[in-house]
Amino acid sequence: MSAKIIDGKAFAATVREKVAGHVAKLKEEHNITPGLAVVLVGEDPASEVYVRNKGKQTVEAGMNSFEHKLPAETSEADLLALIDRLNNDPAVHGILVQLPLPGHLDSDLVINSIEPSKDVDGFHISNVGLLGTGQKSMVPCTPLGCLMMLRDHLGNLSGLNAVVVGRSNIVGKPMAQLLLGDSCTVTIAHSRTKDLPEVCRRADILVAAVGRPEMIPGDWVKPGATVIDVGINRIERDGKNKLVGDVEFASAAEVAGAITPVPGGVGPMTIACLLANTVTACCRAHGLSEPDGLTA
Ligand code: GUN
Repeated sequence: MSAKIIDGKAFAATVREKVAGHVAKLKEEHNITPGLAVVLVGEDPASEVYVRNKGKQTVEAGMNSFEHKLPAETSEADLLALIDRLNNDPAVHGILVQLPLPGHLDSDLVINSIEPSKDVDGFHISNVGLLGTGQKSMVPCTPLGCLMMLRDHLGNLSGLNAVVVGRSNIVGKPMAQLLLGDSCTVTIAHSRTKDLPEVCRRADILVAAVGRPEMIPGDWVKPGATVIDVGINRIERDGKNKLVGDVEFASAAEVAGAITPVPGGVGPMTIACLLANTVTACCRAHGLSEPDGLTA
């Protein structure tokens, strides 16, 4: 194995430390405590784990955590009424509605009812448009975490060929926008892309966000490339449950210059960036300077 392993767990811990430092300063100098509201509708076990972790890490960073757990059969009107209350609550600087929502709720309508300046997921159509036009916005947490790791490892990304495999609204599209913002030459590839292996082999930066276990083998990776694996796939192997990424780690690590592992790569960065976005939203709400290194 020749690749450097990019330790997302350690990197996320440094991001959380920076966040906690800024939170302490906000309290001390301005008597302000940033607050994050998380809304969970229904009882999806994976979502419950995520929400618990978010709440725990929010409190550990010194911020207020407001959890709203609603029954699966909650009506759209009731959910919109809660979001309206949170939009107007000055103690709440960030609002996150955990996805997926139960089928009877219109996710686009719900997300777009969040006040854009409190949309710490960066999913509101206004934030999508601001990011796409290079204006100050809230940036989706997972792509923001990937960008931080890339900048940390590579320094200047300008002129590099970046290939993002996956075109989701949550990861692929905003990732491409962020890389473009850092002056990469960006290709978005997906399941219909012709000659996908060839396209991947051109990448100095390869971001895999397709949700298909170990889809990208080492011989699709350009020697020396930086590989960011966003996939978190649960598989059964040798009778055991295992977490694997979208990249075949062992073969890719033989070829890549650097690679994120699964678990312990991109995953821990997502919540760290959610905390960072909450502090950013709080600073903007109060007209205070934003923390360095925690935004795009
Ligand atoms: N479900 C899985 N990931 C996410 C995320 O980043 N944000 C929200 N709101 N829901 C999710």
